[in-house]
Amino acid sequence: MRLPHLFFAVVLGSACTLQDAAYRQDSTVTTAVATGKAANRWSPDAWKPPIVDSTVDDPYEAAVYRGLALITQTRDSLRAYVGGNLNCASCHLEEGRRGGAAPLIGVFARYPQHMPRSGAVVPIEDRINYCFTRSLAGSKLPPDSREMQDIVAYLAFISKGVPNGEHIKGEGMAKMPALVGDSTRGRGLFTDNCARCHGNNGGGMGPIPALWGPQSFSIGASMARQERAASFIRYNMPFDRPGSLTDQQAYDIAAYITAMPRPDSPGKENDWPNGGAPEDVPYDTKGHKAFRPPKALLPRSTNAAAAIVPVPASVLTKK
Ligand code: HEC
Ligand code: HEC
Repeated sequence: MRLPHLFFAVVLGSACTLQDAAYRQDSTVTTAVATGKAANRWSPDAWKPPIVDSTVDDPYEAAVYRGLALITQTRDSLRAYVGGNLNCASCHLEEGRRGGAAPLIGVFARYPQHMPRSGAVVPIEDRINYCFTRSLAGSKLPPDSREMQDIVAYLAFISKGVPNGEHIKGEGMAKMPALVGDSTRGRGLFTDNCARCHGNNGGGMGPIPALWGPQSFSIGASMARQERAASFIRYNMPFDRPGSLTDQQAYDIAAYITAMPRPDSPGKENDWPNGGAPEDVPYDTKGHKAFRPPKALLPRSTNAAAAIVPVPASVLTKK
């Protein structure tokens, strides 16, 4: 039964499915290797993430479109899973497309990935759930739920064309020079540059998200680390004038914000189980002393047990 089908696939090579395309790519690579040419023609400069089609005409595109809606309207769409007043796109700016703001384009090509913070190789669903539980101070989404798969479909779609394991331009957030922030100076800079949108009490205003307090990201979020926050602020804020602050000013504001009270992150003491936590992590972990922890940790508005994302467990070994 399968043979005639195979035959047609070979003969009618031009009518190709996605799977055929994968085979074709393989054969190109083999040829390139055989002829001694560079097999890897990946060009981060030339790559453009695909635009999400707004005329949803097939079930896959519909899932991608729902995924986009979920990352931009996370709080309204998944209220039970979001602790504060942030959406995924509050940090992953421009629908996850902006370089230097932890872009989500290309991300699908780099998972599963080993994360030193977890001490394990984790799938993309777990990585997403780290942001649900830490950055949104909320609850993990079941990996086999339609909503999780819609988000994954969106990330896969906007990663189209990036070869497995490759990196894009503007990935992550730019590394900052090693400076230390002064929170007293930061307070004044915050009033002058940030308060008109994020509010004097840092709680956000209308659609503008919180920077501290009960509605903000938790202490376990990367954004709660001084150097990481400084990088985001330096290159992306103030929202209407990005790039207008110096490195030192960005650090000063980051020092002020990260010292303020914010929701706790259960299980954070188990991060970096093999040691090696970055210097600016604001809580104790193995071999690491908290760097300038927030003044207070606030109770979470969502179920604490649902805030822990365990590493993938073996079916063969029991601990
Ligand atoms: C408070 C800010 C913030 C919010 C809100 C947030 N994230 Fe993140 N996210 C980050 C930061 C910071 C990183 C780490 C970037 C780095 O390490 O360079 C990250 C990393 C990621 C990664 C891995 C990126 C990579 O390059 O490997 C994914 C995927 C991701 N987030 C998805 C989401 C999703 C989906 C949501 C909403 C459910 C979300 N994030 C909400 C800040 C946030
Ligand atoms: C003109 C209004 C505006 C100003 C001024 C502004 N922001 Fe924002 N900020 C935003 C908006 C809007 C978002 C969310 C982006 C989105 O949803 O697309 C945001 C997101 C953020 C985030 C990530 C999400 C969160 O709430 O944690 C941080 C951190 C942040 N801003 C810090 C700052 C700092 C620090 C300043 C001052 C240097 C500043 N912003 C000035 C509008 C502003």
